Amino acid sequence: MRGALFKTRITEMLGIRHPILCGGMGPSVSDANYVAAVVNAGGMGFIVAAGFPDPEELREQLRECRKLTSGKGFGVNLYISGQDRATERLQEQVKILSEEEVLCVETSGGSPAGVLPALREAGIKVLHKVPAVRYARSAARLGVDAVIVVGNDSAGHPGTYGISSMVQAPHASKEIAIPLVIGGGIGTGRQLAATLMMGADAILMGSRMLVSEELWIHHRYKELLVQSDGTDSVVVKTGLRQHHRVLNNESAKAVAALDATGASDFEQYRPHVMGKLTTQAYLTGDSRTGMLDYGPSVVFANSVQPVDAIFDEVLDDAQQAMSRLEELRSRY
Ligand SMILES: Cc1cc2nc3c(=O)[nH]c(=O)nc-3n(C[C@H](O)[C@H](O)[C@H](O)COP(=O)(O)O)c2cc1C
Repeated sequence: MRGALFKTRITEMLGIRHPILCGGMGPSVSDANYVAAVVNAGGMGFIVAAGFPDPEELREQLRECRKLTSGKGFGVNLYISGQDRATERLQEQVKILSEEEVLCVETSGGSPAGVLPALREAGIKVLHKVPAVRYARSAARLGVDAVIVVGNDSAGHPGTYGISSMVQAPHASKEIAIPLVIGGGIGTGRQLAATLMMGADAILMGSRMLVSEELWIHHRYKELLVQSDGTDSVVVKTGLRQHHRVLNNESAKAVAALDATGASDFEQYRPHVMGKLTTQAYLTGDSRTGMLDYGPSVVFANSVQPVDAIFDEVLDDAQQAMSRLEELRSRY
């Protein structure tokens, strides 16, 4: 594992070597094996709890991750949904996380207010992910430990405002006093250096990591990512106000066509957005259908690599970016 280059409030809070977080990837893309590889490379990863709906399967994943990291702390992504059944399931997930002594959670979706007391009582750090600074402010007021602000390039849910990470980072670091992570479109070390320079404490990557050797998704899909020039992502489901950045495949095109008609009834969308199409695509490598979370930062993924090699590349690039800045300064 590479030596530490930066010490920030996030590296200190999570006890990690590098200020690099790898966001949860559903449904079960970021599993124990991948998250352990991220943690062993010196970053922080998150197993997506929703990807393991059977509580015992989730518990198994957590135990597996603990084993693979030789007891190092790791994280879980918790999706906060407003639906009652989901809330019950969420409480059950939190109970398992506290029994298994998970170090931290990346919460996303709705407000974490309902689960915050239980997470705090269990000593689990809460990093709440939001797509705009205005939500980060509310989360900070609630008492989360850190906020993750993602910009418009982000795979998954970039929010409805369409604000870039380049704007979110300096804005959030001025407004938010608690530790701050910036994500969305990040996949290089020069972006890591710039993000720290803009006042953040860490970066969060998703799309760039999809070529990790440790991920179980089909090799053919990883090859598609390697070939991509980053122009093949699209934001859809705008008709439902659930903006979703995905690979621009047949399903995405069908959803975009519905958006264009002003459709707002979920039943019309259902045949194209069913989770089983997504899982099928990851399993078979046939990515023509399924809503596949995917952002333009795939352009930085030039080969299938183990996680620690990706980290080395990012850290070398950050070092070079800092040397460049010093050299530019020294010209005066
Ligand atoms: C395949 C994939 C699946 C994702 N699934 C989830 C998820 O289930 N929950 C979540 O909060 N974020 C999810 N995300 C978003 C990431 O955690 C992260 O916020 C985002 O990828 C960062 O932007 P980037 O892709 O530009 O690096 C997913 C991203 C990808 C690429």
